[in-house]
Amino acid sequence: MTKIRIAVQKSGRLNEDSLAILKDCGISIDNGKDQLKATSRNFPLEVFYLRNGDIPQYLRDGVVDIAIIGENVLIEKGKDISIAERLNFSKCRVSLAVPKGVTYNSIKDFEGKKIATSYPNTVKEYLASKGVTADLHIINGSVEIAPNIGLAYGICDIVSSGSTLFKNNLKEVEVMLKSEAVLAVSPTISEERKELLKKIQFRIKSVLQARN
Ligand code: PRP
Ligand code: MG
Repeated sequence: MTKIRIAVQKSGRLNEDSLAILKDCGISIDNGKDQLKATSRNFPLEVFYLRNGDIPQYLRDGVVDIAIIGENVLIEKGKDISIAERLNFSKCRVSLAVPKGVTYNSIKDFEGKKIATSYPNTVKEYLASKGVTADLHIINGSVEIAPNIGLAYGICDIVSSGSTLFKNNLKEVEVMLKSEAVLAVSPTISEERKELLKKIQFRIKSVLQARN
């Protein structure tokens, strides 16, 4: 039997909520936590646990058919990938921040400055739209530490509760975009699997309605 292949974040903030929504859809997954692949017992579906940043490429290559992923990741590196549903969880902002002690006036303050980020494309596009050129320093995690160790003037990263900014003595100065978890679809999904996607979408819609 044909199964639909879904990518879910391996570990991190989206993982739990992603599995919870599948469960609420009545899709049970045997969860060997250390396994990178799992199969549903009661729906023709396989789950692949992947790194967030790799998911757009897996969708593009058709290695997976659908994915639960942060919209911010699609904006950064999956603009060609379409969204089937917005999932109303894992809400966050992608923002620019500077040390609390810095007097900040406007986006022009970033001109010629070093910005540490894991979202280079998003920042570049935003700065370009404001006519500002900065020097991007790309790092994959713990971005908020960069200004404190003299690596950068400011940072661009995800802000959810704001506690990471607070703990690192930073203040949010520009909100570049708002994001939430979405159900994304591979451009190469087969007709047969599209039918399975429709069933999942139908269930997701009722789950989201019931949650409201
Ligand atoms: C994410 C993100 C921010 C933080 C935002 O980091 O990169 O640092 O969460 O959340 P908050 O506003 O609720 O504090 P994460 O903890 O996932 O680790 P990483 O940056 O090392 O990947
Ligand atoms: Mg972080």
